[in-house]
Amino acid sequence: MNTAAVFSHPIVQPPFPYEETALAPVISANTLAYHYGKHHKAYVDAVNKLIAGTAFAEMPLEQIVRSSAGQAAHAAIFNSAAQAWNHAFYWQSLRRNGGGEPPAALTELMDDSFGGIEQCKKELSSAAVGQFGSGWAWLVHDQGRLKVVKTSDAHTPIEHGLKPLLTIDVWEHAYYLDYYNRRIDHVNAVLDKLINWEFALQNLRAV
Ligand code: FE2
Repeated sequence: MNTAAVFSHPIVQPPFPYEETALAPVISANTLAYHYGKHHKAYVDAVNKLIAGTAFAEMPLEQIVRSSAGQAAHAAIFNSAAQAWNHAFYWQSLRRNGGGEPPAALTELMDDSFGGIEQCKKELSSAAVGQFGSGWAWLVHDQGRLKVVKTSDAHTPIEHGLKPLLTIDVWEHAYYLDYYNRRIDHVNAVLDKLINWEFALQNLRAV
């Protein structure tokens, strides 16, 4: 085994896209420090350890997720890789002074797909609150329309060929230090004050 080759493409945790205080008070600096510095980092470290010496070692992260999905023999790699991918996507789904009115191009598609932004937010909130246990709520693009889907544990829409536009992490580590068991309060505050509609539009334009 060529060790240099194995480690020539490590999966890198993307730099944190804002200051740790940027999302306070909706998400505290303490929560972000642990979430990015411990949880997200642990998934990245784990996937690098697990793929070393395997065919996955030369793949970009998204390809590792797709290639290991649904394969029992690669469940550990899938879980770490998908969580690493989901978290990198999640940080971009939030921003300081987010929420509010989405850009016009997104609003039009929301009107067609849900009947308006409020209905879209309601569906996202219901998916996030209704996800039993750990998981994620997603706004996705599917065949010309927007849809809301929820996934459990590490699962992610990219397994199924859906194009994610944004996500909300509803693992307890995302909110428990700030909201304890009140997931609904966290989710609704995120939707009202942090959600990054511009990132969703950027992903939509990349479809
Ligand atoms: Fe998380």
